[in-house]
Order: sequence, then structure tokens, then C-alpha cells
Amino acid sequence: MNPELNDTDYRRLAALVYAKSGIYLHDGKRNLVRSRLGKRLRALGVKDYEAYYNYLKTKDDGTELVKMLDAITTNQTAFFRERHHFDFMEKALFPKMESASEDKIRIRIWSAGCSTGEEPYSIAISILEFFLKDERLDAKILATDISSKVLENARAGVYSADRLREMPVTTQRRYFQKGFGKQEGFFKVKENVRQMVVFRNHSLMNRINFGRGLDAIFCRNVMIYFDKRTQNNLVRIFYEYLKPGGYLFVGHSESLAGVTHSFEYVKPSIYLKS
Ligand SMILES: C[S@@+](CC[C@H](N)C(=O)[O-])C[C@H]1O[C@@H](n2cnc3c(N)ncnc32)[C@H](O)[C@@H]1O
Repeated sequence: MNPELNDTDYRRLAALVYAKSGIYLHDGKRNLVRSRLGKRLRALGVKDYEAYYNYLKTKDDGTELVKMLDAITTNQTAFFRERHHFDFMEKALFPKMESASEDKIRIRIWSAGCSTGEEPYSIAISILEFFLKDERLDAKILATDISSKVLENARAGVYSADRLREMPVTTQRRYFQKGFGKQEGFFKVKENVRQMVVFRNHSLMNRINFGRGLDAIFCRNVMIYFDKRTQNNLVRIFYEYLKPGGYLFVGHSESLAGVTHSFEYVKPSIYLKS
């Protein structure tokens, strides 16, 4: 049984989470936080949330902070989630890049809040499907997340069969290695796909230098956890990071309504830097 989480402790913990991740924990999340952090209290052997907060502030070398954020974040994801985004890239983004390029087809995409890797690997697979074995292809996906736990799984690139069940068998065969023996029931992302994706631990509260700019940013089902101020800041930064002609994809429940931005609306959850 978890101890009570009183107003003061909840507010202090919520403020810490907000400062580090931008995740806004309103009062309705109190039970969820109590239960998720309750596990951390037990793991550390501290008696209540006040002691836990004090531990984070005075004794922690950063290890517990990572574990707290691992516990707080919601990491639900899927391969080819919101399929229409991948269809859109195949119809609107990739053909443009194919015809514009001469000796190299340079594609740079950021999966911001990539969770366990299904999103960036789906992007990589879409690129490979479209460009087949075009030798001019130079595609890289930067996949970032604040949670170190999900990144470990993402880097391993091993998924249970049920995670792939919606994927056509031909795609499974082309891009995954079926496990045998002890690995029965698991599939590993093939090397040519893995090579296209670079995983990095990164909080969206910090900046990245993208040099020549990005062709697309996927930041889906992440901003729902942020307040309007953080969303405004992020969307402005996303605009800066994209090249003209680049797209921002957000989750279907996260339109930019109410957010101040310079993007051109293309269709629900798809925005263009024109
Ligand atoms: C619900 S998952 C979405 C995964 C994927 N984008 C999708 O749509 O399927 C949200 C992810 O955002 C990450 N996240 C939350 N706050 C973050 C932050 N401030 N910086 C980076 N990642 C963050 C979480 O750790 C989690 O893995």
C-alpha cells in the first residue's frame, strides 16, 4: 500500500517533473503519480513522498531522477501508428525529394518522443519501401526520448510477435528477423533498418543543433502531456528546425489549435513549413 501523497509533496514533485520534462501533472493525475512513484519509494526504501523528494534534492546523483521520469512517462506506441502519416510521406514528401535530388537523396527526420522505437523504425521502413535500393539514398532518423528505459528497448530492436500483428507479412519478412529457440515469438529489426536510426536520450526542454535542417519532425502523442506554454515554445522551435517544405506530424488528438505558430495547416495533424 502506498503512503498518502499530500498537497505539498504532490506540488513539489509535480514542479520537479515539469522543470525537467515539461510534463504537466494536474491534480487529476495525483493517484497515478502516487502509484507510479510508490514503486520508487519501495525500491529506495524511503518511507513517504516527502522523504523521496528530499532524496531527489539532496542525495541523488541524477540516477533516481531518470528513474522517476521513467516511471512518470507514458510510453504507449505502435508500429505504423496513425498510418495516414506514413501514407502522406509516401505521396507528398518522398516523391518531391526523389525528383529534386541528383547525386544524393538526403533525408533527415526527427522522431521526438520515440518511446520503444516503433515510430522511428516505421519511418525507416517507409523510406526503404519507397526508395527500394536507390543507391543515392542517404537517410537518417534521429530518435530521442527522455526515458532511458524505453531507449534501451528501442536500441535492442526486439519485439514480440503481437507488436507486429497488424503489419503485412511481407513487411515483417523484409525488415525483421524471426527469432528461433529461446527467441521464438520475437522479431528483431534488420541491420539495414537499424543503421538508419540513431537513438539519443534527450529532453524536449533542451535544444539540439540540426545544422542543415530537417525534412520532417514526428512529435506525436507527446505534447498532450505539456501545458500550452511549453507547447507554444516547442512548436516554435520545431518550425525553426525544419527546412522550408518540411512537415510536422503531431498525434491526432493534438491539433495545434490554441497554439501560436507559423505553420501552414495541411490536414488534421499535419503541418507544413512553407
Ligand atoms: C505516448 S509516447 C508516444 C510515442 C510515439 N511518439 C507514438 O506516437 O507512438 C510519449 C513519449 O514521449 C516521451 N516524453 C515525454 N516527455 C518528454 C520530454 N520532455 N522529452 C522527451 N521525451 C519525452 C515519453 O518518455 C514517451 O516515450
